Amino acid sequence: MYSPSEVIYRCRRCGDLLSVEYDADLMRPETAKKWRGRSLSVWRYAELLPISDRSKIVSLGEGGTSLNRCSRLGSELGLKEVYVKNEGENPTGSFKDRGMTVGVTRALELGIKIVACASTGNTSASLAAYAARAGLECVVLIPSGKVALGKLIQAMIYGARVIQVKGNFDDALKIVEELCLTQPIYLLNSINPYRLEGQKTIAFEIWDQLDGRVPDEVIVPVGNAGNISAIWKGFRELYSMGLIDKLPRMIGIQAEGAAPIANLIKMGLKEIEFVENPETIATAIRIGSPVNWKRAVGAIKDSNGFAETISDEEILKAQRLLASYEGIFVEPAGAASIAGLIKLVKNGLVRQDDLIVCIATGHGLKDPDIVLRQFPKPVEVEADVNTLMKLLSS
Ligand SMILES: Cc1ncc(COP(=O)(O)O)c(C=O)c1O
Repeated sequence: MYSPSEVIYRCRRCGDLLSVEYDADLMRPETAKKWRGRSLSVWRYAELLPISDRSKIVSLGEGGTSLNRCSRLGSELGLKEVYVKNEGENPTGSFKDRGMTVGVTRALELGIKIVACASTGNTSASLAAYAARAGLECVVLIPSGKVALGKLIQAMIYGARVIQVKGNFDDALKIVEELCLTQPIYLLNSINPYRLEGQKTIAFEIWDQLDGRVPDEVIVPVGNAGNISAIWKGFRELYSMGLIDKLPRMIGIQAEGAAPIANLIKMGLKEIEFVENPETIATAIRIGSPVNWKRAVGAIKDSNGFAETISDEEILKAQRLLASYEGIFVEPAGAASIAGLIKLVKNGLVRQDDLIVCIATGHGLKDPDIVLRQFPKPVEVEADVNTLMKLLSS
């Protein structure tokens, strides 16, 4: 057990990652009574977030994302109740904002002046925004040439120092962790347990939005594996508090070319085999050595869940399906949960009347190039209504 006043990311004895735990007297149904009447957002659940001085909260209005019942998608797949939690609605367009509002507030509490992260794009966009809001310096390391343009632009405009690393995300994370261990710079990757506390509110919101019902399955795209671990922690806390009497099965989805966790689980390997050169068009989950892998495997196994891999082609198909059937435009990594669901249905791994929630992790506009490449150029007409009518009737 370590004190909250320490800046520490890993256990000094075993090197494993740390997690935030709360006093037993908070883990009661009474705590949730305080949440009523507050708007749906990360900070609705303030009692179960590890911040002592609420006057310092750095917020951009994160959380409170919609949980869309997707009837058209559901009937296409022969499923009764499918929901998509649209995390693209967060202030910088991804679920990372839930973690950053807590992590950057924590940085202020600690009197930190500089924050840093390695990123496949969304973490840097989010950290840069929250650092700007808090008046902190921000350093972000990204894999050279492998970050979607929309995300890169975000980090730049928010004023972060953006550094491209000649290597992949795993290489960037390794050096930024080393940097933060020796310098007064606060690391805000998902090895920081405060960040995951913010992200666990996805589970709290789902519970609230379903009026206390618990999904049978929660399907999550997995990269560094922080988010699936955080969401599972959220559901476990609701369970410990006596607010729910069952837990969902956690389903982790990885891209075929970057699937160390899914391979471990699917193939029943004895040890995890990290992927040295991960590859996928879903750049946000192009990660070969997920730092949170142990927690994620724990979440999947403890929940009686499972993991699946999907091809890039399946990701793009799911992205289009979700947009054209439900009006929800997500980036490729965000569509991984939908692609995963389609595969689970094909393989008979979910039941027709299951209550299923897919987490759509990031907004589609972050990576428009990938979509543009798949469509022909729109037709051009003269500015003449007759020509237009002729075209429409053809
Ligand atoms: C859009 C999107 N989806 C999924 C993930 C994967 O989340 P995690 O690294 O917590 O597994 C990321 C991480 O960068 C992301 O940006």
